[in-house]
Amino acid sequence: MIKLIQHPVLTHKLTLLRRKETPSKVFRATVEELSELLTYEATRELALRETEIETPITRCTAQVLAEEKFVIVPILRAGLAMVAGALKILPDAAVGHIGLVRDETTHKPVEYYRKIPANLAEKTVLVVDPMLATGGSTSAALKILKEHGARKIIFVNIIAAPEGIKKIADEHSEIPIYTAAIDDHLNEKCYIVPGLGDAGDRIFGTGSD
Ligand code: PRP
Ligand code: URA
Repeated sequence: MIKLIQHPVLTHKLTLLRRKETPSKVFRATVEELSELLTYEATRELALRETEIETPITRCTAQVLAEEKFVIVPILRAGLAMVAGALKILPDAAVGHIGLVRDETTHKPVEYYRKIPANLAEKTVLVVDPMLATGGSTSAALKILKEHGARKIIFVNIIAAPEGIKKIADEHSEIPIYTAAIDDHLNEKCYIVPGLGDAGDRIFGTGSD
């Protein structure tokens, strides 16, 4: 279930990420900004419930979020840069972590870390990762979260490739994917084209100078 969020400000910020000369400092800050904007859109369908409150003037019926327990789960490493932005929208959320890295030859994800809050069945889980390429990492993270009991999951992403979108539709058809861009294809190294390169390296400055 792909939801492409289109907005000139998103498009402008995305271009900053795509430009190869954008330094890590600006790249990181822009990923955080996009994460905040996309999380705002990704939470648009959340249900509300009525509650009685008192304003300084009078009693009235007002509305609050029906579901108040949220968990944000970044897929390490690149997803880490999206946590602060998502927390601006959902400041009371817990944060779990799933560490996955793509094997350079097979391009399949290898798990190296997992710390997930308890009782996921009662919570809304937002998985955050800027890149959906083959879909292997996102699919593995969604499987892990379902094994931990998660029933309501939303994936917040910045750039998706058609290959990854198809994989998630095939393997996790009920999960909504909120993204700012659907790019053209994957290259022979399974990088997104045109994409933005290696998101983790650009965020953490670990690529070649
Ligand atoms: C990147 C990215 C995603 C994954 C997407 O992580 O952050 O997690 O690749 O590719 P996929 O859809 O083909 O699985 P990477 O494995 O490079 O690790 P890193 O974030 O630590 O650099
Ligand atoms: N991971 C990245 O960081 N970039 C891509 O283009 C594909 C996977």
